[in-house]
Amino acid sequence: MYIAERVRLRRVEKDDLPRYVEWLNDAEVRRGLMIFLPLSSVEEEQWFENMLKAPPAERPFAVDAKVGAGWQHIGSCGLFDFQPQAHHAELGIVLGDKNFWDKGYGTDVMNLLLKVGFEVFNLNRIHLRVYGNNPRARHVYEKIGFTHEGTLRQHVYREGQYYDEHVMAILRSEWQALQK
Ligand SMILES: CC(C)(COP(=O)(O)OP(=O)(O)OC[C@H]1O[C@@H](n2cnc3c(N)ncnc32)[C@H](O)[C@@H]1OP(=O)(O)O)[C@@H](O)C(=O)NCCC(=O)NCCS
Repeated sequence: MYIAERVRLRRVEKDDLPRYVEWLNDAEVRRGLMIFLPLSSVEEEQWFENMLKAPPAERPFAVDAKVGAGWQHIGSCGLFDFQPQAHHAELGIVLGDKNFWDKGYGTDVMNLLLKVGFEVFNLNRIHLRVYGNNPRARHVYEKIGFTHEGTLRQHVYREGQYYDEHVMAILRSEWQALQK
């Protein structure tokens, strides 16, 4: 488990699955994600079984927020598509509980996940993709030091409209400089 002041990252448990089904069936949560179709409990259970077969490093984390004296499950995040030779990976994040949006938790999770990526997995570069319909996410990524590297024009189609897909990345040296 990786713990910061207000958030922690832990392994996904079977008990978490109903919450993922609820969140991923919310069109507002799904809008910025690759998943664009509704999801059943059976499909989510299948995802869980497949996830356990993936290499440990590629398995996502459940995100918990500190609430009072305890912790509450609010989302998921992870690093995937590791390239061991080039020391890079892709990052993904979703806070499914919308009550926790715009309160700094996403920023906290990103900072903790970057620390894990650079200091645990020894990555040199972490990249992500963000859609043009997701200014909140893009703002968070820019705020914590990601650089916009390129645009795939009209690459995604959501709710009757094409949107650009932006590739953003942060290098280990850039992240280290920001820690000082
Ligand atoms: C994107 C996400 C991870 C951000 O987490 P969060 O906890 O809501 O973000 P934070 O509270 O840390 O930061 C939000 C920032 O965006 C700003 N913001 C909110 N709406 C915005 C908008 N429409 N345009 C620009 N900035 C916006 C807030 O003011 C805040 O900035 P500040 O810290 O400078 O004041 C979360 O909202 C989420 O999971 N959304 C659904 C799934 C998703 O889109 N995932 C990302 C896929 S690339």
